Amino acid sequence: MEHHSNIVPWELISKIRRFTINYAKVNEDGTLNYEDFENKISSRTKLISLSHVSNVSGIINDVKRIGKVAHENGALMFVDGAQSVPHMPVDVRDLDADFMAFSGHKMLGPTGIGVLYGKKHMLEMMAPFQGGGEMIKDVVFNQKTGRIGIDWNDTPWKFEAGTPNICGSVALMEAIKYLENIGMSEILKYEKNLTEYAMKTMQNCCSKLLLYGTSDDSLKCGIMPFGVAGLSSHDIALFLDNYGIMIRSGFHCAQPLHQIFKLQSSARASFYIYNTRTEIDRFAGVLKEIEQF
Ligand SMILES: Cc1ncc(COP(=O)(O)O)c(C=O)c1O
Repeated sequence: MEHHSNIVPWELISKIRRFTINYAKVNEDGTLNYEDFENKISSRTKLISLSHVSNVSGIINDVKRIGKVAHENGALMFVDGAQSVPHMPVDVRDLDADFMAFSGHKMLGPTGIGVLYGKKHMLEMMAPFQGGGEMIKDVVFNQKTGRIGIDWNDTPWKFEAGTPNICGSVALMEAIKYLENIGMSEILKYEKNLTEYAMKTMQNCCSKLLLYGTSDDSLKCGIMPFGVAGLSSHDIALFLDNYGIMIRSGFHCAQPLHQIFKLQSSARASFYIYNTRTEIDRFAGVLKEIEQF
């Protein structure tokens, strides 16, 4: 159920560091198979990595449950928060995540910047992964040996080589302040409400509608993968686009999940704080027209 960005980097580094990756199973309705996940964690597990919320199905994973088993076995937990942090209150301490990442552009911020959280003692143990200015305390040339000695800067500067993305970080901070001003609990409540409304309205409007993943909206946040029988996801997206309604079509950088759903691709409607029930009514109205094709 992972975005490719939580698959491909691990595959790349596993070839360099020579470790084995085990993938936990996902049920046919897109929910995580917790028993399989837990059975795969052992004292040999170094790190487990999973998304908090799937970008395809909107399913919210119980990362706290998985983290507990990981920690009992001496493993670390990385959480991909790209689809949770913008949409709900997230407390890294409560989840006991060792590392967590999220992206700026999914929370009204700019592209090309995100956040990597790490527990301080973990970050302090880690070596820098990039070299350049700012990430050092001292770079001293020893006249006698002809060698350079380097002292790393403190955390987090040790990881921030070179001139940083200043504009991006100022803009992201402003976006975070804006969202926190509204209140993350309020945002979650608003989106849950829109999702429930959208599920009902879409089903009532379109008899050829196919909703993918679990139909239990208590497990989901505002992401709706769907299809219309007989039409490709790209046709659906093009048709909606003619009415100024933007959705995404394709496999949303999550091809393995589409294999589980036995789909070539899916259409995906997703909501945020700027969407309204009126827009959902309009969207459902266009879906009704689409099914005549
Ligand atoms: C769940 C999830 N993880 C990771 C990413 C990747 O984010 P970025 O493109 O900022 O690396 C996305 C983006 O679509 C996502 O939805």
